[in-house]
Amino acid sequence: MKIGIFDSGIGGLSVLHHAMKKMPGTEFIYYADEEHVPYGEKTVEEIKGYIEEILDFLISKEVDAIVIACNTATSVATKEFRAGYPVPIVGMEPAVKKAVELYQHTGKRILVAATPVTIAGNKLHNLLERVDKEKDVDLLPLPKLVRFAERGDFESEEVEVYLREEMQDLNLEDYIAVVLGCTHFNYFKESFRNVFPENIHFVDGNEGTINQLIRVAKKDKNPGTEAKVSYYYSGKEVTEEEKSEIENYMRQLDKMYRK
Ligand code: DGL
Repeated sequence: MKIGIFDSGIGGLSVLHHAMKKMPGTEFIYYADEEHVPYGEKTVEEIKGYIEEILDFLISKEVDAIVIACNTATSVATKEFRAGYPVPIVGMEPAVKKAVELYQHTGKRILVAATPVTIAGNKLHNLLERVDKEKDVDLLPLPKLVRFAERGDFESEEVEVYLREEMQDLNLEDYIAVVLGCTHFNYFKESFRNVFPENIHFVDGNEGTINQLIRVAKKDKNPGTEAKVSYYYSGKEVTEEEKSEIENYMRQLDKMYRK
């Protein structure tokens, strides 16, 4: 079975990482749209155009299913839009439902951090209406974090100063959990931890997304034993140097998810 996974950049590697664990015999194509990252600063029309190009590319590679490993792209790629393609397309949304189920009983608040496009999108507001009946959830757009991530800067002083600035109007002691509503934000757990005064929990959408992929993808009749991945940056196969950079991120994710 061949699965295409895409994001604007390195954020979706956390989704690929989870998929490789859960679907060991699968062949993956990982597509990062490095020419157009960050999506969160683009218009909805621009993002739709990028998505169309990527979906056509992945379909030309004969994938059996596609994962949009990007909350921002999913928020503009509606179900109707996805239905126009010949393979199942699984999107991702901030894991608010899971966070509410896990933490509502604590009486503390939940913070959803995402890109400005995701925060402004109807998709998230409709989700909140369905699952946040008690109004325990607050939203926080973090426009600059994707740029930090793409520079490989996850734990610097600058990142922490930025997070403190963006969260200065919040009562940080009120929160029990952060929903990482952008796949790039998975890399910043340590920096978030440093900003919150008390122990904070993180919820991401990777597990739910890959469970959904497993549900919709055809069963592999002869699964291999090891996952195989080829990486593309905006339609071009990555260079050896880029590949070793990606492998470095995958090792960081290994460490992170072992904690
Ligand atoms: N990784 C993407 C997400 O999950 C967005 C990154 C971007 O703004 O390009 O929302």
